[in-house]
Amino acid sequence: MAIKVHIKNNRWAEGSFPNTPEGEEVFTITRGRFESAIAEFPDIAGAIDVFIDWDSDNFAASMKDAEVLLTWNLPTEDLGAVAPKLKWIHCIGAGVEHLLPMDWLPDGVVLTNNKGVHAAKAGEFGLMSILMLHCHMPAIVTNQRDRVYDSLYASPIAGKTLVVIGTGTLGGSVAKKLQGLGVHVIGVNRHGKPVDGCDEIVTSGQLEEVLPRADYLLCATPDTPETRGMLGRRQLDLMKPRAGLVNIGRQSIVDYDALCDKLEEGSLAGAIVDVFDAEPIAASSRLWNTKNLILTPHVSADDGDAYVPMTIDLFLRNMALHLAGKPLLNPVRPELGY
Ligand code: OXD
Repeated sequence: MAIKVHIKNNRWAEGSFPNTPEGEEVFTITRGRFESAIAEFPDIAGAIDVFIDWDSDNFAASMKDAEVLLTWNLPTEDLGAVAPKLKWIHCIGAGVEHLLPMDWLPDGVVLTNNKGVHAAKAGEFGLMSILMLHCHMPAIVTNQRDRVYDSLYASPIAGKTLVVIGTGTLGGSVAKKLQGLGVHVIGVNRHGKPVDGCDEIVTSGQLEEVLPRADYLLCATPDTPETRGMLGRRQLDLMKPRAGLVNIGRQSIVDYDALCDKLEEGSLAGAIVDVFDAEPIAASSRLWNTKNLILTPHVSADDGDAYVPMTIDLFLRNMALHLAGKPLLNPVRPELGY
């Protein structure tokens, strides 16, 4: 008998832009997109029965006999009773902080995430951002707004030092690109384990030792109890005044208020930030107008054309493992939050 898969898409949140009745196309799993992806997995096609819906529409009724859920988020209350047959949830994002704490996850249900899907896009965005900092683009854009014509010259980037906090898919991909340009890359991760693309690795506990060496700092961490607040005012003060910062992970690692103060007073040269606790950010946020800061609206890691095809491909590769009773790719560790 085919196993039931429930796919939950999200409509736009109230108040968000452009606020259409459908969800954001980049992340929407339509029947057509699912069918074209499953054509590559003929053995799976007959083994699953897929129901696609929006938000909580029909969620409770459909989850009564669903074994698998593919979604960004879900109503977690009393999930064991709502979905007694559930064995696996795949989250279509890499970050799962919106599902924390995971005390709602019924025993025996595995949660997996979209790790890997963001590598190519994040690598290019990170490369672009570090080169933008190196070429003084935040200052040049600030000057443009102020009608100031000031030729800020730069040399090739080889020989500069980049510190990458979080050396997973995003950070690892950026590290490789910059190392290829002759940049000395220092990776920071939980265990101090070597990573391709990094010339040196230190543990999170050694972060303060390497911050003064950074010409550029790239943050690519999930939002977990361990990463929250790692870069407060004191840590930012350890950086060179000519250094620049990029954040493509989650806001919570960096104190943005301290970052804005430092950019305004000139004790950091520039920043490019792509992630925010509340998205979209409020019209009143000081981030919009901070000197030498470029903000991008959470576009650093999601491939605008291929996000859903890559997500379904990962999901179906995992489905083959699920059907074979094998361990799944990308299991989330609830106690670590990623
Ligand atoms: C994600 C993201 O978590 O794009 O997938 O931020």
